[in-house]
Amino acid sequence: MLWLMVNFAMTVLLPIFGGIAAWNASRAYRAPTKGKLYSRLRSSLIWTGISGLALFVKATAIVLLGVSGWLFVEDKATMQLPMVAIPAAAIVLFSIPAAKAIRAAAVKASKEPLMVQDRLAAAAPGWVFPVLVSFVGSLAAAVQALFIAQWPLKTGTVIAVWSVYATFVYLLWIRQKRNYCRFVVTGSPKTGTLAVRISWKFGVLLTVVLVAAVGFMFGAKASRLPERMSMADHMHAHTGGNAPQFVSVTELTGPRTGTPDRSFTLEAKKTMITLPSGEKKEAWTYNGQLPGPELRVKQGELVEVTLINKDIDEGVTIHWHGVDVPNREDGVAGLTQDAVMPQQKHVYRFIAEKTGTNWYHSHQQSSKQVQMGLYGVFIVEPDITLPQKTADMAVVLHNWQAENGTSVSLGELNRLQRKIAEPGTLVRLRFVNAGNMRAPIHISGVPFQVAAIDGTDIHEPKDLTDSRLDLAAGGRYDVTFVMPNMVVGISRQTGPFAHDGNALVISPSNEGVPPDAVKGPIFDPASYGTPAKTKFGPDTRYDRNYKLVFDNRLGFYNGKFTFVHTINGTIFPDAPMLTVREGELVKMTFVNRGFDDHPMHLHGHHIQVLSRNGKAVTGSPWIADALNVAPGETYEVAFVADNPGIWMDHCHNLDHAAVGMSAHIAYEGVLSPFEIGSATVNLPE
Ligand code: C2O
Ligand code: CU
Repeated sequence: MLWLMVNFAMTVLLPIFGGIAAWNASRAYRAPTKGKLYSRLRSSLIWTGISGLALFVKATAIVLLGVSGWLFVEDKATMQLPMVAIPAAAIVLFSIPAAKAIRAAAVKASKEPLMVQDRLAAAAPGWVFPVLVSFVGSLAAAVQALFIAQWPLKTGTVIAVWSVYATFVYLLWIRQKRNYCRFVVTGSPKTGTLAVRISWKFGVLLTVVLVAAVGFMFGAKASRLPERMSMADHMHAHTGGNAPQFVSVTELTGPRTGTPDRSFTLEAKKTMITLPSGEKKEAWTYNGQLPGPELRVKQGELVEVTLINKDIDEGVTIHWHGVDVPNREDGVAGLTQDAVMPQQKHVYRFIAEKTGTNWYHSHQQSSKQVQMGLYGVFIVEPDITLPQKTADMAVVLHNWQAENGTSVSLGELNRLQRKIAEPGTLVRLRFVNAGNMRAPIHISGVPFQVAAIDGTDIHEPKDLTDSRLDLAAGGRYDVTFVMPNMVVGISRQTGPFAHDGNALVISPSNEGVPPDAVKGPIFDPASYGTPAKTKFGPDTRYDRNYKLVFDNRLGFYNGKFTFVHTINGTIFPDAPMLTVREGELVKMTFVNRGFDDHPMHLHGHHIQVLSRNGKAVTGSPWIADALNVAPGETYEVAFVADNPGIWMDHCHNLDHAAVGMSAHIAYEGVLSPFEIGSATVNLPE
């Protein structure tokens, strides 16, 4: 949301503006000439004015954010704002009137030396001090915003931050007064000999550097993941270990016996690919294809997939994203299996119970391996023969890391694709977003319907004529239309149709140019289709209510100082482990008070969206497994705990997950023998 950004920008800018004002104010009395005094005074006043404006903007942003809920502003209203606003009030009350008096002695461009009484007026703590405190306050607010931003806000945190702030203000006051008194007595603006002054400055600098370095080392060390850790142990720390009975993840398998209806072999290997630009690039692929082979099965079939790792040194797995498989088949390294190392293999077996568009990808080092190409489409078709002529195709959206920065791609490689469809054919495009960001999709030349979201059909979808799609990272949209006697274009941007690797043309013959993509409203699943009966209604009583609040701050993850994305103020392994029991109805509330999208993905279950920003979903039941929670948004979602295991619940911006944006849902009593950590091969994200 805009105001989150505005507030943050002002928080970062205020110490800069305030710093310039304070620098000039504190040096005004040392001005050699009346002209110098004039310019220092003027500069201090100008920057104080700019700070005042920034503060006004920040306060407005906080008030507007507060309308969405106290949760969005609690730290801003109890710390950031008063820490800057109180000294700002003192500036208005004391500094500005005092500055007017000093101004009399300041003469533009004058070379005349300053009189002692002018110096005394310019050094008076009553004028300088509020400007200095204002700077310290804006610094404290910025530190709070960058390092301490969190929910829930603890009273202890507020007290601690205020105490540190108050201590600094007090020390500053003592120093100001002492300097002023010395100045009154000695009449000299300088105190002590040059050597003493320099050693003081040096001493202060050294202390600051030392404190920062020790804090940094300590923080880095404390954040290191242990050599070995089991996520299940972590869970029992949360539940107190009073589970009904214990079962291992290794027992929660798909059917281990029986002849599979479908078997596939996927071999993970390094493959050199050539982009249409001629650029050669190493990709990591399943079976040398990019995306990996499109796997299609029929509903109810027993599927067996053998994963072989040829030469991916870090090891690989396959996670069946969108298929609610038994826990042991879920493909999460270090949780449901060990990563499959070179020359090893692993067999997944499960029944394809629900129809829909899904995808698969490695869940070992997923942020890197999906980016490198270890992903493909997994489609479960209904077990019927379709009445009409149909053209059914998957379209994968992916972000390529090309030499010259990131380039996006739609479909196979960075090449315009053409498909032929006879007029009257029922076309079904299965869009899969394998990238880390929301993906805009424009369909021009035909009215279309969104038939399914994340593999679940929409109830009574309607034709859309000028809507744009914006697909969550990890999410899927099935789009259907009847092929017109015209050219249809699919592209990732508005405006004139771009004939590049981000476009797909479907035409009755192999030629023609599709119409331009119009910039219509963004398709909103919350009000699309018509309601239908579901397991959840307004009167549902939930057995568990969990709240997950997302935010950003600077911090350490596994020894590395970085920008982290937090869940309830924490990152993995401290991020919440939510416990449930089989059969329970669980409600989760997602709130995003940071400024990045967080496409949340719960493994092993589908969530039903109940409301967004307090407004109930009015259209078809909206059932998802990758739900984009944009900055400032609040979602209430629900699911039935019907698939025992330990499941990841993480952000599908895999770069966020890789720095700890990963929570878990654990069924009481489930244990995992698999471990993560530097002494193991497993690194799920
Ligand atoms: Cu598609 Cu945990 O991932
Ligand atoms: Cu995220």
